[in-house]
Amino acid sequence: MPVLDIDWVRRQFPALALQINGRPAAYFDGPGGTQVPQRVIDAMRDYLTGSNANTHGAFATSRKSDEAIAQAHAAMADLLGCDAAEVVFGPNMTSLTFSLSRALGRELGPGDEVVVTRLDHDGNVAPWCVLEERGCRVRFVDINPSDCTLDMADLKRQITPRTRLVAAGYASNAVGTINDVEEIVRLAHSVGALAYIDAVHYAPHGPIDVRRLECDFLVCSPYKFFGPHSGALYGKREHLARLRPYKVRPAAEENPYRWETGTQNHEGQAGILAAVDYLAELGRHASPSVTSRRAALLAAYDVIRPYERALVERLISGLLAISGLTFYGIKEPARFAQRVPTVAIRIAGHTPRELASYLGERGLFAWDGNYYALNLSERLGVEPSGGMLRIGLVHYNTAEEVARLLASLRELRRSGL
Ligand SMILES: Cc1ncc(COP(=O)(O)O)c(C=O)c1O
Repeated sequence: MPVLDIDWVRRQFPALALQINGRPAAYFDGPGGTQVPQRVIDAMRDYLTGSNANTHGAFATSRKSDEAIAQAHAAMADLLGCDAAEVVFGPNMTSLTFSLSRALGRELGPGDEVVVTRLDHDGNVAPWCVLEERGCRVRFVDINPSDCTLDMADLKRQITPRTRLVAAGYASNAVGTINDVEEIVRLAHSVGALAYIDAVHYAPHGPIDVRRLECDFLVCSPYKFFGPHSGALYGKREHLARLRPYKVRPAAEENPYRWETGTQNHEGQAGILAAVDYLAELGRHASPSVTSRRAALLAAYDVIRPYERALVERLISGLLAISGLTFYGIKEPARFAQRVPTVAIRIAGHTPRELASYLGERGLFAWDGNYYALNLSERLGVEPSGGMLRIGLVHYNTAEEVARLLASLRELRRSGL
């Protein structure tokens, strides 16, 4: 079985050399945004030095820009398992989702319903709640608070013959739960509704295959999977063709470009191509016999997943041994296929902000608060007291970093700070 070569991985990321107060920085903030490999930095710099122009001009740099943009769409298509014409880039997932909800809203009105969940980031909730202004009803699916999984029985109750869209996450950016997306899509389609999947948090951890999922839309953000700050949306060809985007008249009429409002972040797209190629390179490094880029990407996730799983097992068992610690989410190793390596905790006597500051001084970067998963934070009753501390692992984290984090938390308990 190929395994992840952690030394090779870490050599790709220059930011991992950062020191804080004499200690190496350990990035547990991947859910808020990951570090980028050198090739992403190089690709963005090279675009700006050799190709920087607007599109569809009659000169070299414009033609090179067109080529870079086409290649970035093709790379994202390989990552998601779709065609390049089904990939729409934008500033971030939130903006893309608001633009989709505005376009879909043209078809919706009183009597129509949309379904959202209490497990989701607000980026997959607020853009759908806006449809209330058009007279639509928004229904919320609850969670099982004991393990922070989606309440699938409630999902079935909330989906009705009036449902037009079901918006759900692939994985929770707060507690790491992976949802049964295939089943969610199936339930949406059983009443003729569209399924809109937020894969922002899942993308750095597992392979995505939109054809297998049969979802209608799926969004992700390259800055969460080792690329630049940007967003990407998959839309089924027939939907992108049928729906009408808000656009200016002279802009392209063909898909996917008519959905990409204004001038795009071209250097960002050069960086997205490089981020996807980094993952493919990781796959080839682990499995040299793979041929296509898609196969190389799948090979990358084949080594990322067991590596992350072993790390999160260490992290969770270490956390559960700390007195006064409350753990939110799935904690039994036998169920780890149902989670990504993102965990949320609280420790009695400390606000999450105090914990994050304490760790931050020791070079251990972790988020506190609700990370925009506001409904979840409210549902768990932790919102008024600062939310939770989130520790997020990705494949460039190490067992040594996890040990340092656990030792720091144990030290905090011992010292009674
Ligand atoms: C699960 C999830 N969905 C959506 C978003 C919003 O993404 P963006 O910052 O690209 O708008 C985030 C960002 O943290 C996220 O984690």
